[in-house]
Amino acid sequence: MSYETLLVETNGRVGVVTLHRPKALNALNSQLIEELNRALDALEADPGIGCIVLAGSERAFAAGADVKEMQFLTFPATYRDDFITSWERLSRCRKPVIAAVAGYALGGGCEMAMMCDIILAADTARFGQPEIQLGIMPGAGGSQRLTRAVGKAKAMEMCLTGRTMDAAEAERAGLVARVVPAADLMAEAMKTADRIADMPLAAAMMVKESVNRAFETTLAEGIRFERRLFQALFATADQKEGMGAFVEKRQPGFARE
Ligand code: HXC
Repeated sequence: MSYETLLVETNGRVGVVTLHRPKALNALNSQLIEELNRALDALEADPGIGCIVLAGSERAFAAGADVKEMQFLTFPATYRDDFITSWERLSRCRKPVIAAVAGYALGGGCEMAMMCDIILAADTARFGQPEIQLGIMPGAGGSQRLTRAVGKAKAMEMCLTGRTMDAAEAERAGLVARVVPAADLMAEAMKTADRIADMPLAAAMMVKESVNRAFETTLAEGIRFERRLFQALFATADQKEGMGAFVEKRQPGFARE
C-alpha cells in the first residue's frame, strides 16, 4: 500500500505509523486522514499486529488540522460533508495505540494524540487547543477528551486562551503517561508497544475496551461490563497457557488468537 503523507512499517508485532508532512509541521489534511484510516484498517486486520505506535517528527507530532485547507470552508460544506467525522476512525481502533509525541501537538494534533490509548511525551512536547485564536474551537473531541484527562480548570483555560502545556505540566495533569528525553522517545515507545504486543491479544483488546467504557457509562454498568469481559477470557487458550505457565514455573507461549 502506498502513502504520501505517512510512513508505515511493521516491527515484529508492532505497527508504526509516522505522520509525514515535514514542510507543514504534519498539519492534518484530508489526504493524511484518509491515508491514516487506510493504514489503521490494514494494521487492525493483520493478526500479526498487537499494538500500534503513532508518531510525528522531532519538531511536531502535528500542528493541527490544515488551516490552509480549512480557510475557505463554509458551514453548508462542513455540514454536508460531515467534516471531521472521518477523524474518528482512530478512536475506534480496537488494538492499543500509543502516541509518541515530540514537539507541537496542537489543535487537531492534540486531539489525535488524545484518541490514542497512551501518550508518551518527549520533554520537548507542547500540547494545546489554540483553535479559538482562529475563530473556531476544538472539533475532534478536544473539549471533551482534554476535560476528562486534565479536569475542567485546565481544559477551560487552555481552550479559552489557547495557552499550551509543556510536557512536565501535561504529566502532572494526567494527560500523558510518561515524559522521556526526546532522544529516547521512539525507543521507549517501541519498548512499551513490544511489551503490549507480546501480551495475549484478546486480553489486551478487552482491557482497552473496558478502560474506555469507564468514560462512557456509570460505575455499576462499567463494573458489570468489565466482569463479562473478565469471564469471557476464561474461554481463551491464552488464559490456560498463562496460568499453566505460572503454575509450572515456565515462560508462557501465547497463541494470541
Ligand atoms: C497548515 C501549518 C499549520 C497548520 C504549521 N503550518 N501549522 N499549515 N495548518 N495547522 C505550516 C506553516 O504555515 C509553515 O508553512 C510551516 O508549517 C512551518 O510553520 P511556521 O509557522 O513557520 O513554524 P514556527 O514559526 O516554528 O511555528 C510553529 C507553530 C505555528 C507555533 C506550530 O506553525 C502555528 O501556530 N501553527 C498553527 C497551530 C494551530 O493553530 N493549530 C490549530 C489548527 S486548527 P509555510 O509554507 O508558511 O512555510 C485545528 C482544528 C482542529 O487543529 C479541529 C478539528 C480537527
